[in-house]
Amino acid sequence: MEHKCDISYVASRRLSTLARHLEVSTIEACKNEGLNASITSGFDGNSNSVFAHVVKAPEDPILGVTVAYNKDPSPVKLNLGVGAYRTEEGKPLVLNVVRQAEQQLITDRSRVKEYLPITGLAEFNKLSAKLMFGADSPAIRENRVTTVQCLSGTGSLRVGGEFLAKHYHERTIYIPQPTWGNHPKIFTLAGLSVKTYRYYDPTTRGLHFSGLLEDLGSAPSGAIVLLHACAHNPTGVDPTIQQWENIRQLMRSKGLLPFFDSAYQGFASGSLDTDAQPVRMFVADGGECLLAQSYAKNMGLYGERVGALSIVCKTADVANRVESQLKLVVRPMFSSPPIHGASIVATILRDRNLFDEWTVELKAMADRIISMRQKLFDALRARGTPGDWSHIIKQIGMFTFTGLNKEQVAFMTNEYHIYMTSDGRISMAGLSSKTIPHLADAIHAAVTRMS
Ligand code: LMR
Repeated sequence: MEHKCDISYVASRRLSTLARHLEVSTIEACKNEGLNASITSGFDGNSNSVFAHVVKAPEDPILGVTVAYNKDPSPVKLNLGVGAYRTEEGKPLVLNVVRQAEQQLITDRSRVKEYLPITGLAEFNKLSAKLMFGADSPAIRENRVTTVQCLSGTGSLRVGGEFLAKHYHERTIYIPQPTWGNHPKIFTLAGLSVKTYRYYDPTTRGLHFSGLLEDLGSAPSGAIVLLHACAHNPTGVDPTIQQWENIRQLMRSKGLLPFFDSAYQGFASGSLDTDAQPVRMFVADGGECLLAQSYAKNMGLYGERVGALSIVCKTADVANRVESQLKLVVRPMFSSPPIHGASIVATILRDRNLFDEWTVELKAMADRIISMRQKLFDALRARGTPGDWSHIIKQIGMFTFTGLNKEQVAFMTNEYHIYMTSDGRISMAGLSSKTIPHLADAIHAAVTRMS
């Protein structure tokens, strides 16, 4: 297959394709007019390209892991890089409720493919806000929440970031250290200045609570603070409810503006309401906040890019004006969001039976992940792998932050064909009972040989 990259091969393929579409006499005429020269001039080499100076960018630290995995021919290879749920058979899962909702959508002949409004599907927005803030949320009742459909969590963060950069008096956003690798890029490109607050303590493999309070305590009044609503990515370490309460009090006393990223509602504990609790605490105090919601994981709608940005304001009038400005952010960015994913979500959220079935399927996914934690922990104990691996069962959500270093990760990839991000994060959702022994063998070998 290598010859396909050969420039002269490509050029002659292009010319013969062209010949099939044009009369030979036309080709001759083109040649005579010197057009042939312009057809081939693109193949003279890189130096002629106006983009010759463009340097090859590195692969994305998370999505690039899948690229490397796809190239590996090994039959035992295992992708624990990207956070995407897999069944016990290692297959991607389309939820049963999603299939049912799609069936309903397909058979409804009254549905059309017109543009959605700039703010997206109104019913989807309403139901998304209700899902997170609660059916009886005073903020919703008082119309103080504006919700705009966006391109999953990433798009929601980006729209929220740009809105803040344009309209909020403080341009600094504090993000946890560590955080999802895309966060700093999203907010920097949105026009905010990014700083970090301590979050994870590598010695305890738990929350650096005192560091977090200290760093937020010394942040300038009004600064924006990014908070993972639940199932912190990449660490799997969440504050307790009491710690959330302390964080809330500190942030409100300093006028810090919370921006929640909720990518895993229902995925952490298995309950949508339990996982929404931290956000609801902040909304219940009457203060303002932003929320980016994603349905990639909890409905398995990864590629549909469906999510929402909500901004909780003090009054309905402010919320209304904020929404008008959000439209000005969205319109030149992607004009209006796609219809299909949001229609699936709205179909499920509006229908009592589908909703209940969703909660069962969601809990089954969360429970399977939790059982993988126990199995991996047991497998390492059975092998007598040096170290305290209890953090595997203490951490929550899709990921375990193993504590393995870069060299150990590289060793596991090279020797065992196990793919994961270089920070030692593994996607528990990518594991199955069958693959755990292989992973445990790899961790054991990495720890004993590469320490
Ligand atoms: C992850 O952290 O693996 C997911 O959020 C997927 C992504 O886009 O990075």
